Amino acid sequence: MRKIEFFDTTLRDGEQSAGINLNTKEKLEIARQLEKYGVSIIEAGFPASSPGDFEAVKLIADTVKNSVVTGLARSIKSDIETSWEALKGGVQPHLHTFIATSPIHMQYKLNKTPEQVIEIAVESVKLAKKYFPLVQWSAEDATRSDKDFLVRIMNEVIKAGATTINIPDTVGYASPIEYGALFKYLSENVTGIEKVKLSAHCHDDLGMAVANTLAAIENGATQVEGTINGIGERAGNAALEEVAVALHIRNDYYQADSGIILKETKRTSQLVSQLTGVVIQPNKAVVGKNAFAHESGIHQDGMLKNPETYEIITPDLIGDVATELVLGKHSGRHAFFTRAAEMGFQLSDEKLNAAFVAFKKLADRKKEIAEEDLFVLLTDQQVKSGEVELYELEELVVHYENNVPTSTITVKVPSGEQVVETCAGSGAVEAIFNTLEKIVNGEVRILDYRVSSVSKGRDALGEAVINLTFNGKTSTGRNASQDVLKASARAYINAINRQLVNVHKRTSRSRSVNRCL
Ligand code: KIV
Ligand code: ZN
Repeated sequence: MRKIEFFDTTLRDGEQSAGINLNTKEKLEIARQLEKYGVSIIEAGFPASSPGDFEAVKLIADTVKNSVVTGLARSIKSDIETSWEALKGGVQPHLHTFIATSPIHMQYKLNKTPEQVIEIAVESVKLAKKYFPLVQWSAEDATRSDKDFLVRIMNEVIKAGATTINIPDTVGYASPIEYGALFKYLSENVTGIEKVKLSAHCHDDLGMAVANTLAAIENGATQVEGTINGIGERAGNAALEEVAVALHIRNDYYQADSGIILKETKRTSQLVSQLTGVVIQPNKAVVGKNAFAHESGIHQDGMLKNPETYEIITPDLIGDVATELVLGKHSGRHAFFTRAAEMGFQLSDEKLNAAFVAFKKLADRKKEIAEEDLFVLLTDQQVKSGEVELYELEELVVHYENNVPTSTITVKVPSGEQVVETCAGSGAVEAIFNTLEKIVNGEVRILDYRVSSVSKGRDALGEAVINLTFNGKTSTGRNASQDVLKASARAYINAINRQLVNVHKRTSRSRSVNRCL
């Protein structure tokens, strides 16, 4: 059985997509889950791109022990050296460097001749090899590059010491037959290709990323790259969980093993969705809410007679276990801690206690606490940074004056004082957002806003996710509460706090009761 290495780029290519901004704690949490999921390599970020990325990559490289941790670097000396500083604590330091090889990228983006590009690629791999035992080299926009140019440049970077060659379909342009043929051609024509890993990296612009990835496996790829839930720039990347399940279910055909712990699929997918705020489409393969729902009478009849008539994947395979009622109002600390441990959470006593308090509050108002509720409460504690909240919601009152929704909100502001504001809106949510905009004292534009239920029933937790710009910078915030208006207000404040957290400007504002009505 061939082994296919899984290279996860949720924290780099995935995090690069519009509206996602994970903090260091959240990235570490995802990395830990990816390690449990069994991925071979975690691309933790792009260390030279910002101090925040550097810090997160370093923390992940220093923490994760069972997956190789890598970071992305342009073919630039300072990128490679900065990446070394971030990655040197890893078990097997690995660097991912790249340069574009297509005529359009070389001419317009790089303004370099093909010869110059070869020279830069070789120099960057040689420099990387001075530090890193493992160096992956990628030919950006490979699928729109000249095949024989790819052969030439790959011959040279392998000679220079690259240990993995990646052939990205950067703009999601290739068809499965073409992409597979490119792997075959390169496998047959590049000198020394058998000594290195050959990697596929596909984008989903034409909806073919997973199919292309599988075609690459059929034609010699030994590594596949992608993201959880397929998140990523534009239409996203290949969804790794789909590739892993395809290799498992069609093992008779692919004869390849991924090393992925399939039972961790659902948990990994939920965590990425919760922390990024990117909702999973209900009909998404493998992890969508309806992926195992059979509505039609004919299908249901067949399923009752023999589930295999219509079900090729079982929920159990991906760890989607039906644990409806987990805990209730009378469950004590011991039962709660035991359940948290069974769910795989390893929290400090302080965080466990805080989660227990949140659980008790919820249990007072919600009859049955489902696994999804616990997952949200526990994950919230897990990724809490311990930093002071700059703005904090203290009180929210919504009322209707002459049929006009109006909100009065009290917020603790960075100076520690309370500010109270009142504003109207054409709906309750708009009134809340108008009021908060006055309090945070800056220009806020709402780019996206969603509320979805965490579990079933009318008393379910509602999770609000908001994507906004604050003084021109984009940020995403989230919060879950049974009261969706409170969740919305807190998600808004969370987005503002996330953006301000690095600035830590402490402006003093006196207690005021301003009315904008
Ligand atoms: O899509 C792409 O080409 C990339 C490279 C940086 C590998 O993400
Ligand atoms: Zn990419």
